[in-house]
Amino acid sequence: MSEQQTPANQAQNSQGQDDVTHFGFRDVPKSQKASQVADVFHSVAGKYDLMNDLMSMGIHRLWKRFTIELSGVRPGHQVLDIAGGTGDLTMKFSDLVGPSGKVVLADINASMLKVGRGRLVDRGYAGNIEYVQADAEHLPFPDNSFNAVSIAFGLRNVTDKDQALRDMTRALKPGGKLMILEFSKPTNPLLSKAYDTYSFTALPLMGQLIAGDSESYKYLAESIRMHPDQDTLKGMMENAGLVGCKYYNMTGGIVALHVGIKP
Ligand SMILES: C[S@@+](CC[C@H](N)C(=O)[O-])C[C@H]1O[C@@H](n2cnc3c(N)ncnc32)[C@H](O)[C@@H]1O
Repeated sequence: MSEQQTPANQAQNSQGQDDVTHFGFRDVPKSQKASQVADVFHSVAGKYDLMNDLMSMGIHRLWKRFTIELSGVRPGHQVLDIAGGTGDLTMKFSDLVGPSGKVVLADINASMLKVGRGRLVDRGYAGNIEYVQADAEHLPFPDNSFNAVSIAFGLRNVTDKDQALRDMTRALKPGGKLMILEFSKPTNPLLSKAYDTYSFTALPLMGQLIAGDSESYKYLAESIRMHPDQDTLKGMMENAGLVGCKYYNMTGGIVALHVGIKP
């Protein structure tokens, strides 16, 4: 399964009309999803880091730390952090690859990249980081470029996830590792219920109070529900040509880290 199919988009596809996809719970033409996602991140960029800490109660730092620990990134490595936003993973990778390595912080959204670059420069990061505005579906890098590619909380927003998985795989060197950190499906029904209540009430409210934007945080909650679950995403990674694919559930499956290797 590539994109989750709703009855509405199945009907439209079978009539040969403009392909549709989901934007949260709404069906939108595929050609419009990227600009709607862009509006979300242009709107939240300035408050993104504060909101991340508040919404996850700081736990996103642990999810990211685990990702870094499993990355196997070493001095001299070339790393791509696509959908890297404000650069949390990029900073850690920059420390790991050292002066002989390189990290590319890439994101489709100019506002997020601007906030990310400003934040990294303020913290003294320079020298081994490059900033590139790029779409995960069409990466502007040659084949076999990177020892590791990460996408954290980004794949959910991509229109054609299969195409992005193929392109990230293409950009990896043989033996290189793809790491996908993303919201996923809670494994416990009780946790799932409490999490639903939190997501659909507290998140939009916090978004309104802190970022003056409840709609973007409503989209966040909806997009998480529309994202492929753990096993579906693992299958998509295998279809993209990765091997040794596995996932690690964190916080009861609210988030999962998927890893796969380019053969
Ligand atoms: C929730 S933020 C995650 C940022 C960062 N990786 C983190 O974990 O804090 C999602 C990011 O994905 C970016 N994004 C959305 N669609 C994208 C695409 N097709 N290609 C590249 N980046 C994309 C957004 O601009 C945004 O910066």
